[in-house]
Amino acid sequence: MNDYIAAIDQGTTSSRCIIFDHGGRVVGSGQREHEQIFPRAGWVEHDAETLWRNTSDVIGDALERTGLDSSDIAAVGITNQRETTVVWDRSTGKPIHNAIVWQDTRTDLVCTELAGDVGVDRYKAKTGLPLSTYFAGPKVRWILDNVDGARSMAEAGDLCFGTVDSWVLWNLTGGSHITDVTNASRTMLMDLRTLDWDRDICADFDIPMSMLPEIRSSSEVYGEVASGPLAGVPIAGVLGDQQAATFGQACLSPGEAKNTYGTGNFLLLNTGTDPVSSEHGLLTTVCYRIGSAAAVYALEGAVAVTGSLVQWLRDNLGVISSADEIETLAATVDDNGGAYFVPAFSGLFAPRWRSDARGVIAGLTRFVNKGHLARAALEATAFQTREVIEAMRADSGVELKTLKVDGGMVVNEMLMQFQSDILDVPVIRPVVSETTALGAAYAAGLAVGFWAGEDDIRRNWAEDKRWQPQMDSARREYLYRKWNKAVERTYDWST
Ligand code: G3P
Repeated sequence: MNDYIAAIDQGTTSSRCIIFDHGGRVVGSGQREHEQIFPRAGWVEHDAETLWRNTSDVIGDALERTGLDSSDIAAVGITNQRETTVVWDRSTGKPIHNAIVWQDTRTDLVCTELAGDVGVDRYKAKTGLPLSTYFAGPKVRWILDNVDGARSMAEAGDLCFGTVDSWVLWNLTGGSHITDVTNASRTMLMDLRTLDWDRDICADFDIPMSMLPEIRSSSEVYGEVASGPLAGVPIAGVLGDQQAATFGQACLSPGEAKNTYGTGNFLLLNTGTDPVSSEHGLLTTVCYRIGSAAAVYALEGAVAVTGSLVQWLRDNLGVISSADEIETLAATVDDNGGAYFVPAFSGLFAPRWRSDARGVIAGLTRFVNKGHLARAALEATAFQTREVIEAMRADSGVELKTLKVDGGMVVNEMLMQFQSDILDVPVIRPVVSETTALGAAYAAGLAVGFWAGEDDIRRNWAEDKRWQPQMDSARREYLYRKWNKAVERTYDWST
């Protein structure tokens, strides 16, 4: 009875439900992919109702596969793709527009207008974020300005805004409008210190505050599942996916960091209970808040396109037919053949924040073949990570001695070796690489007493594999210099 925790991970490409035991081990899961909708160049949407339907279905799949039922589950945790924005009708619960995904760049103009003469750092002191198409606030503003009748409904108090955690929680509970501090910190509407919505920023963005969910901690009982196979089970943890992975990787002390290799890459460094402002293009964000304890903050390097470049090679160019073929194809050549692939599909995020950038492949000659391009695509992930780590070192003075990694791409041995080579530090993969879902499970389990405290989390973490740097420094610096030259060729392209 009550021997397990269920974690829902509503991500950019799929929805999953993973069930964990007390040792933090996976006992079973369900997963369903959803469509990526690209209505125009630079626009990325999801059907919010599909996100919820898939979430509800994978809960059923996971329970069926494990033979468990609601009486076995002590609590549910939620983790989610962050910043992706849903606006729905408060009385019907129906979205008034597709979810606008974090990668979407349609709010370029909204951001430029808000930046005005002050510049992109206008709200950085309060929110820890530069004005960018990445965050939820500008997306809400776009919906209010562009969907017929939206503004008057919002002003009448008839609309709800939520990031995907709120949308899932609303549907699971049958109508509670709540978010957690980590997700709220990605909207650009929350003050990092008060952990409350900021009235002035909401006024500047022209977003009625009645649309906003209540902000709660990342680990507390928010309500119970209203119906379906988990009916009656408490929902007790909510964390944005990258914060969840940081928690699941047991980065619980200042100076500890992890890097997740998903559709994008997200490196988070725990900086303790004081928000550290970045001078080198990193984000300041809430890492987690456990119940009424003080919030813990992080510096984050968010890279928009890494794993999604592999998907693009599969879906748009057809050079591979499944994502895992990238490693086989890259292994047909000894190096990148002089080619550098900068996937600035959504502009460039950290540490450069260039919304005017667009992707390039530089260094092409007749010699370059698809093996070299596959290699260049993998190397792009590692180079972008090095940029972020250099920014983090400059901001925090923290010299990473090792890099803890997780996410879908960490099964790729070639990438992990190259990552270690280009950083000149060992790269470490934990036994449970499902750290995102695990982090949400930990948050939920702590709230209901399933786990006693953070020591349980530390004890459950174990190393699986370690890659040691093998490249000589002259080669490392040569490659990185060429990468930087390629990146400069992406600038000034969107206009
Ligand atoms: O900030 C975006 C991030 O939360 C997306 O994560 O794993 O769904 O690509 P993922």
